[in-house]
Amino acid sequence: MSAQIDRLIAAARAAAQNAYAPYSGYHVGAALLLSDGTIISAANFENASYGMTLCAETVAIAKASSEGKLDQICALAVIGGPNGQIGIHSVTPCGRCRQIIKEVADITASDIPVHCAHDGGCDTHRLSELLPHAFGPANLK
Ligand code: THU
Repeated sequence: MSAQIDRLIAAARAAAQNAYAPYSGYHVGAALLLSDGTIISAANFENASYGMTLCAETVAIAKASSEGKLDQICALAVIGGPNGQIGIHSVTPCGRCRQIIKEVADITASDIPVHCAHDGGCDTHRLSELLPHAFGPANLK
C-alpha cells in the first residue's frame, strides 16, 4: 500500500474517534484525498430521530463541497466498527453514500477508488464496482 493511502486510512481512523454515535455505538471515519495531497476527514453524526443520521462519507463529501473542493477529490478511505473496536472488520459505504460518491465521480470524471480499511489491511473498490449501472447527472439530460 502506498504511503499516501496509509496516511488517508490513518486520518479516517482518527476521525472515527470523533463519531457521534450514541444510538448505534458504531463509529465510522472517512477521509478524502485531494489532488494537492491534503485530506478532509469526518465521522458519522447520529440523531435521536434515527433516520436523520449522517454517515461519515457523506459528512466528508459535504465538507469538501462547502470548501469548494469537490473537483479535487481523488480517493476515499473508510473505516469503522463498534466503539473501541474500530477496524475489526471492513466497512463498505452504504447505498446512500454510494449515490453521493457517484456525484463526486461525475464531477471529477474519475472512477473514485474507495479504500475500505480494517486492522488486517485494506480492500479497494472502484465506485463502478460498488454502484454499477448508477443513476447520475447524465440521466437528467
Ligand atoms: N455508517 C457510516 O457512517 N457509513 C457507512 O458507510 C455505514 C454506516 C454509520 C451510520 C450509523 O451512524 C452507524 O454507522 C451504524 O449504521
